[in-house]
Amino acid sequence: MRTYREEATVDPADRPTWVDGIDNPYLHGPYTPVISEITAVDLQVAAGEIPADLYGAYMRNGPNPVLEPKGAYHWFDGDGMVHAVYFRDGRASYIRRWVRTRALRSEIEDGRVTLSGIMGPFDLPQGDGSQATNPDYCKDTSNTTLTWHNGRVLSNWYNAGRTYSLDPLTLDTVADETFGGAVDATLNAHAKCDPRTGELLNYDYGDFKSYLTYYVIGADGKLKHKTRVDLAGPRLPHDTTITPNYTILHDFPLYHDVDVLRNTGHRVVEFHRELPSRFGVIPRYGTQEQIKWFEFEPGYVLHMVNAWEEGDWITMDGCFQPDPTIRRDPSEGALGSMLAYLRYRGHLRRWRMNVRTGEKREQQLDDLNVEFCLPDTQLYGVKTRYSYHQRIPLDVQTLVFDGLVKYDHENGSHEVYEYPQGWYGNEAPFAKSTRGGAEDRGYVVTLATRGKDYASEAWIFDAQRIGKGPIARVTLPGRVPIGFHAAWIPGRLLWQEKAAAA
Ligand SMILES: [Fe+2]
Repeated sequence: MRTYREEATVDPADRPTWVDGIDNPYLHGPYTPVISEITAVDLQVAAGEIPADLYGAYMRNGPNPVLEPKGAYHWFDGDGMVHAVYFRDGRASYIRRWVRTRALRSEIEDGRVTLSGIMGPFDLPQGDGSQATNPDYCKDTSNTTLTWHNGRVLSNWYNAGRTYSLDPLTLDTVADETFGGAVDATLNAHAKCDPRTGELLNYDYGDFKSYLTYYVIGADGKLKHKTRVDLAGPRLPHDTTITPNYTILHDFPLYHDVDVLRNTGHRVVEFHRELPSRFGVIPRYGTQEQIKWFEFEPGYVLHMVNAWEEGDWITMDGCFQPDPTIRRDPSEGALGSMLAYLRYRGHLRRWRMNVRTGEKREQQLDDLNVEFCLPDTQLYGVKTRYSYHQRIPLDVQTLVFDGLVKYDHENGSHEVYEYPQGWYGNEAPFAKSTRGGAEDRGYVVTLATRGKDYASEAWIFDAQRIGKGPIARVTLPGRVPIGFHAAWIPGRLLWQEKAAAA
């Protein structure tokens, strides 16, 4: 496999200059891709002790380009690579593997990248394009999320990409997932698997009518329900939330004009502050005629924490950007849009919607600049008190996390652990103790990389004492570049139910 850089070349001064002579910071330093896959067992513990009741796997997806990209490189364009740390009986093992996407397979065969990344330029299909999907003209890298469903880990992409099934124990790509041939579509990155029913709730969206299609996939991997949702134009929804009876869809006033896309070959995203943010509450097996739309302050949300029902009210918490205007710095040239988009400004907010009366409320819960927010994901759809976020520093060139924040949504308090100077953290999911107990009885796990020598470790926090720092630090056998979303897969799903089904 030919790669464009060597893993050892991590000197931040060694900067690729692929775009109009402008340095691309997402290709060096802590973002430098690695060049190999690793399997390692019995990892060394640098400090502390791996708790015996930590049982399952931390998995994180992220961009790791294999070949030199075509045109400008956006951080979302790097080929997906999954890093997984498995914890069992007080021991840990590690695997990293690329997701073998259609694009990567054909590029390796051709020895070159043929599709543009998300900064274009795109060669759009002629006619109304209603059958076109994003990956037909834009490289789909499957580098963004990992979701447990039906005994497999599903890998998906930021911009609605094809779904890939991974073997949860080897990370091998086992299928271009079409759910029995019934869903030959791209799906949003943050599909939600209902932990009570095993159903997968998600949607497709794109640049052509009807702009959004909603799907329910059964616990058996078969399509259970599908309905089109007509929007006024192309939108950029990214997440969703679920409750036992509803799925909440997003329509934010941050989008691009499809005519500009056709005429220029570029997706020019603008914030339309004169329009509201809209949430569409659809019954789980509902049609678009049954959607109740609620309008709120304009803005944008990448990630929600959770949602739940209390009587006729739905409560939903998430990380809200009140002014997602993309302020391009002309000195950053062709990279200006990407760099501006990734300079995050937002805070924790609560929305409440009454599905019977149409009443609504919204409320800012805090002012810390936080994102990449997770509750105990085994409690998706039911009321949760705690969530775990990454703190994002202001006024930095690229997206990094400088602290782990635990929120108590009942009393509005938070606890912070600041990552030590020079260390970069990653999204940190909650891992329930096998002994059960209170909602936050368990651990929070993240991967951390030190900038000066690229030493990488898995850090385990006691979820009830985040501020005290990691209770164990596990040495990883290779560097982990900064990436996107992580998931915790409980051991009972990974090993027990899988073994029982065999
Ligand atoms: Fe995301």
